Amino acid sequence: MILVRTKAELHKKLFELSPGDTVGLVPTMGALHAGHLSLVERAMAENKKTVVSIFVNPTQFNDKDDLKRYPRDIDADMKLLEPTGCHILFAPEPEDIYPEPDTRKFNFGKLETVMEGKYRPGHFNGVAQVVSKLFEIVKPDKAYFGLKDFQQLAVIKNMVEQLKQTVKIVPCQIVREENGLAMSSRNELLTQEERENASLIYETLKEAKKLSREKSIIKLRKWMIKNINNNPFLIVEYVEIVDDKNLQPIESWSDNCVKVACIAVFCGKVRLIDNMFLN
Ligand code: PAJ
Repeated sequence: MILVRTKAELHKKLFELSPGDTVGLVPTMGALHAGHLSLVERAMAENKKTVVSIFVNPTQFNDKDDLKRYPRDIDADMKLLEPTGCHILFAPEPEDIYPEPDTRKFNFGKLETVMEGKYRPGHFNGVAQVVSKLFEIVKPDKAYFGLKDFQQLAVIKNMVEQLKQTVKIVPCQIVREENGLAMSSRNELLTQEERENASLIYETLKEAKKLSREKSIIKLRKWMIKNINNNPFLIVEYVEIVDDKNLQPIESWSDNCVKVACIAVFCGKVRLIDNMFLN
């Protein structure tokens, strides 16, 4: 694996390594875990060359403390990446990605007025800025994103259509800790006790899937919120049951769409998100 720090170096190495080869890109913000590695393995299996990017993108953090707290450890990340056989690790500095401020304003319509878009204003605009730049720089054939960030996937697919980029977006399954908690770089910020209690998020989603045959949507949402808020370590920010395509809350179980329960929960200062298909 080659570590490159600038766009110019990346272009040089990609050209040397892979004229004409298919390239898979896995964009990340580092603090890698098995969830990220599952994306890298998939990219390795489906492309001749794999580029992983690590860049803690300042423009997508609406909360400056969250940006400051975000875990960073490039040496540990490289140790985890090395055994995957991935070809290039691209870890640029902010000045290289944003030589001047990115003033682009994307419009994702209703996709960004709910859930993460509603509670983290500007977040998806920042994600679209950095991901579109990474696509321009790396020019991958395929790019890999986790279903854990369900809304992010929908926004990125929409962005690729708007910008007429040719990359194929590949959604990948959620990888979980043994206790069911969805893996996340932010889990590192939890105490052992918090981590144990946070497994209730997954338990609640699983139970919700069962109960969706018995309870109305309103009752099910209320039950989920109460079930989580009853735990002293957890506070729900939102629970939504949405159409997987337009991300709008569904009105009835008989709506003809794939239904996803999406959830955001504070565990202390750490904000956790998760989701599950209900049908
Ligand atoms: P980050 O949170 O580092 O996640 C990088 C990728 O890993 C995302 O596609 C995310 O959905 C995926 N991922 C995270 N946890 C996962 C899990 N438990 N199972 C499966 N996949 C998982 O998402 C971002 O970074 C940034 O917003 C980024 C797209 C890199 C733009 O800055």
